[in-house]
Amino acid sequence: MALREIALYGQSILRMKADPIVEITDSIRTLVEDMIETMQEEEGIGLAAPQVGESISLCIINLGLIEEDAVPKAYINPVIVEKEGMCTVEEGCLSIPDIREDVDRPEVIKARYMDLDGGEHLDECDGMLGRILQHEIDHLNGVLFVDRISSIKRELLAKELKQIAAGD
Ligand code: CO
Repeated sequence: MALREIALYGQSILRMKADPIVEITDSIRTLVEDMIETMQEEEGIGLAAPQVGESISLCIINLGLIEEDAVPKAYINPVIVEKEGMCTVEEGCLSIPDIREDVDRPEVIKARYMDLDGGEHLDECDGMLGRILQHEIDHLNGVLFVDRISSIKRELLAKELKQIAAGD
């Protein structure tokens, strides 16, 4: 296993639409292990492959922070197929360090995805899991949580965002 460098706000890979995964190879499994190690090192609750420089449709969630005795889980080619309700929760992102803002998102989603063994799933997700999965699926579409806050708030953050992009 190896730690991967996190792509920061301003890097173009974070704005790309990730390619679907057509085959679960050993290199995908190694990438998942590396992402889990990186997420735990950075104390993140989720991580998407583009954040570690791979523009493919894969994210992981640190389920252990949501329910007791759970282990990190990989979601391959995840898509949201249904959404319901709306709620406001504060979010952060390893690619946008030290910035946290309230974000409005659907409260409950149904998501379709594949597991690392190629099994197909359709899960209803709410609470913290539903929230994180929506944030990670956004990453796979080149969307960041700061895109989902009001333009006034985003203007207030403009300087900080610029500094992150400049690597300060
Ligand atoms: Co993020």
